[in-house]
Amino acid sequence: MSGLSTRAVTEVRAPGKLYIAGEYAVVEPGYPAVLIAVDRYITVRVSPASADTGHITTDQNAGSHLEWYRQGSDMLIEPDQDQFSFVLAAVRIVEEAAVALGVPLQVFDLDITSELDDDSGRKFGLGSSAAVTVATVRALCAHYKLKLTLMEQLKLALLASIEVQRSGSGGDVAASMFGGWIAYTSFDREWAREQRAERPLVELVKAEWPGLSVRPLTPPESLRLLVGWTGSPASTSRLVGDVQSNKRGDAAWSYAGFLADSRDCVESFVSALDAADTEGVFAGIRRNRALLRELGEHTGTTIETPTLRRLIESAEDQGGAAKTSGAGGGDCGIVLIGEDADIDGLLAVWERADIRLLNLHQHQSTRGN
Ligand code: PMV
Ligand code: MG
Repeated sequence: MSGLSTRAVTEVRAPGKLYIAGEYAVVEPGYPAVLIAVDRYITVRVSPASADTGHITTDQNAGSHLEWYRQGSDMLIEPDQDQFSFVLAAVRIVEEAAVALGVPLQVFDLDITSELDDDSGRKFGLGSSAAVTVATVRALCAHYKLKLTLMEQLKLALLASIEVQRSGSGGDVAASMFGGWIAYTSFDREWAREQRAERPLVELVKAEWPGLSVRPLTPPESLRLLVGWTGSPASTSRLVGDVQSNKRGDAAWSYAGFLADSRDCVESFVSALDAADTEGVFAGIRRNRALLRELGEHTGTTIETPTLRRLIESAEDQGGAAKTSGAGGGDCGIVLIGEDADIDGLLAVWERADIRLLNLHQHQSTRGN
């Protein structure tokens, strides 16, 4: 080997995501949601370390770094650092797979850059934890040359994320892994946890997972997707926790009914997308908005904030269909609207209401590998 050889760098970027439909119901195993990946990314670069110390650096949260050492197949980090919990979980799961596949481990540097927060580190709710998990899994699978399909890499990323996060459907991880528009049905976290304790990792990653599916969708060509940011970040885990602890329901409403309606709504919405049926697409968004509003009212959770409501109503006034995206409570709302609508008029209303149009587009899908 030549001492002058350049260091092989593997660079992978993973997109952020937005929910289009199916939120909250999709946290229950097997329930469907529609998501898109957007053209803002987290980039992970892996390169062999120059000595026996590896470095992990990020520009997220005003920048931080850690140093690590290898001890057998373990990473030795002191102290274990919270802001890198998703990255470290992703590294550990890929390395466990690499060892099982007979690939020798290395010491490397990993550098992370994010476009998913603004310059002051504010989050837009575009799924930076999911994207950094996906980018790390994909970068290390490429670095170690593991021959795993996208679906198998998705399962590694889901296993990494359930080690860090108590709740979450995994839709964000799937959107970031597959890109484009996807129909997603959620895996069973309890099942995955049990299997993880009992089964060899590679066997688990190659198995069918109950409930889990990802299918690419064709975006509605005649419609524009607008994303408005309300300026107030929201905590998904707190909102999901609130809904879960107040889902008992009352005489007029039941959680089981919400789940059944959400499934029906998302399935019809997906059929309308498949058929390029614009009216069906609008109807799906409007019905899902109504279901989420009821869920919020009956569980005492503010999903549609006053600003999100203004965003939605102003889009309706121009003939579009709109709803909260994701857990709501702030973050973003989405609008589907005809190309010929008065979009400038709509944006003027948003400006007066302090709603910021995010200049986002669909990220092309990652299919084929
Ligand atoms: O707010 P977001 O974009 O993180 O989306 C959360 C969507 C939920 O269905 C409410 C939770 C989940 O994990 O699917
Ligand atoms: Mg959110």
